[in-house]
Amino acid sequence: MKVEPAVSLEGHLGVPGDKSISHRALLLGAVSDGPTVIRGFGRSGDTESTLAAVRALGVHVDEDGDELHVRGVGLRGLQSAEIDCGNAGTLARLIVGLLAFQEGTFTLTGDESLSARPMERIATPLRLLGAQIETTDGHLPLTVTGGALQAIDYELPVASAQVKSAILLAGLGAVGRTTVIEPVPTRDHTELMLRAAGASVSIRPNSVSVDGAERIDVGAVDVPGDFSSAAPFIAAASLVPESRVTIHGVGLNPRRTGLLDVLERMGARVGILSRSRSGPEPVGEVEIRTGELTATTIRTDEVPLLVDELPLFGLLAAGSRGSSWVYGAGELRLKETDRIEAVVDALRAVGARAQAHEDGFSVTGVPTRPRGGRVDARGDHRIAMLGAVAGLWSRDGVQIQGAGSAAISFPGFYELIDRIVQR
Ligand code: S3P
Repeated sequence: MKVEPAVSLEGHLGVPGDKSISHRALLLGAVSDGPTVIRGFGRSGDTESTLAAVRALGVHVDEDGDELHVRGVGLRGLQSAEIDCGNAGTLARLIVGLLAFQEGTFTLTGDESLSARPMERIATPLRLLGAQIETTDGHLPLTVTGGALQAIDYELPVASAQVKSAILLAGLGAVGRTTVIEPVPTRDHTELMLRAAGASVSIRPNSVSVDGAERIDVGAVDVPGDFSSAAPFIAAASLVPESRVTIHGVGLNPRRTGLLDVLERMGARVGILSRSRSGPEPVGEVEIRTGELTATTIRTDEVPLLVDELPLFGLLAAGSRGSSWVYGAGELRLKETDRIEAVVDALRAVGARAQAHEDGFSVTGVPTRPRGGRVDARGDHRIAMLGAVAGLWSRDGVQIQGAGSAAISFPGFYELIDRIVQR
């Protein structure tokens, strides 16, 4: 697919429901005592994998567009199954926490990309709780046999919301209080939803605890728009001249919106027009206009707050005055693809100057449209979307190889671009 240059971007839009929250609502709804209604479910390749997974585990789900009705089977009611996690890392990590205390044996598989991603990061702490887990050389396929669990205190060696969440979910089924200590705060959707579902949860700046429970009841979840799906439009409107875009109903959880703080530092014209709440999650309206950007540095502490937006940050850095650096982002090498190499290759392919480092990358920016070229998405949705934004901003357009992978998180992405693009 080729994304042609835009003269400008203009208009109002909404984005699909948050992927992280959609996965969690299905997983927690599945083990709720009562029925759960999920409104604004973010339909995507990844969340369809979670929907299929809970069904395989014996949970009945009725669908009515983006509204799902989940008939929970109770905290310990999941049935033995083989689960294909597809490309979804969040599913593969989080579900093991719940399976660890069910009666039965469960096998998890995934696609080629997911099968290359590390699973010992969850298996190791879950074994400390007493879980029986076997990985295949640290990867999928993975087998978990449920049993009795004992609470633990665990200090995460890496800042990962997926690992934190897997431990907290296992902690629900354990005897005692499980505490996870984080090196740096990461997204807190799991703990917020658990608390709303009646679990006993203590949230502190660098740690979170959950008590073992007999039951939870999610009830209803109104899923906010996915900030990570809004991010390509935020980046594009910042870069493409004469643009003005407003995004409605988007999640503004501060542990997700690091890109807004970074953009503010870069001198971008981003404003939050209104704020409200959707259950425990902050939501609002964001307006972005083209701005003159200045280079900046992103360090370890900030990385989890924009981990999925770092590819787009690379492009924003390419359009800003000066040299930008990302440090402490080694985790990017373990995403759907090695996102340090993929981002640097994509930036170079469109004519920008970028360099890969062991735990990040650097970019020398020029505040004019790059040439354009050909970007290989490498099967990674975030790289496909990076290519599309680069195409809009470029002089000659960008040919994206494997553009379809955007649907892993955002089906309808290219159609939404067409709605706001002026050519
Ligand atoms: C996610 C956490 C992040 C993020 C992923 C979704 C989640 O992964 O990159 O896209 O929903 O918990 P890590 O926590 O492993 O960094």
